[in-house]
Amino acid sequence: MPRRCARAAQRAAGTNADALTAAGFQNGRRMFEAACAVCHAESGGVGHLGVRPLMGLNTSVSQASPENLLRVMMHGIDQPATEGLGYMPGFKDSFDDQQLAELAGYIRARYAPGQPAWHDLAATAARVREAVH
Ligand code: HEC
Repeated sequence: MPRRCARAAQRAAGTNADALTAAGFQNGRRMFEAACAVCHAESGGVGHLGVRPLMGLNTSVSQASPENLLRVMMHGIDQPATEGLGYMPGFKDSFDDQQLAELAGYIRARYAPGQPAWHDLAATAARVREAVH
């Protein structure tokens, strides 16, 4: 990748929400603001999905495979790590695979800017949806 592109990609992948919007993540951003931000609001720290739950420490966002993140988004969390954390609803009936793919792509770019983008997210979402859990 030419150096200028690499820098642009790096910028787009940073925590600047406006840059992400410009980079084509506006759908994902909109869904995040509507469905997730209420609990995972911005905290401003790099790498944080915004913490009430400690998303900055959350590995599903920075893993090589998007499956864990997609699974959490679809099925939620009904067994919180600690009692104080509370529960997370599942979104499998609110979003289709394409929407989940865009949302996961946005979350990846924004909260794991050092990691390469995930590919075939919609297909992976379809597979996770079919999987027995
Ligand atoms: C009603 C509040 C609520 C909403 C809305 C919500 N979450 Fe969560 N989420 C939580 C809580 C609470 C936890 C922490 C549970 C735990 O760690 O035990 C969590 C944890 C997570 C995790 C970490 C799971 C892991 O791997 O341990 C991810 C990723 C996540 N949420 C993504 C999202 C996304 C994406 C959305 C929007 C589609 C969303 N959440 C909407 C409450 C919420």
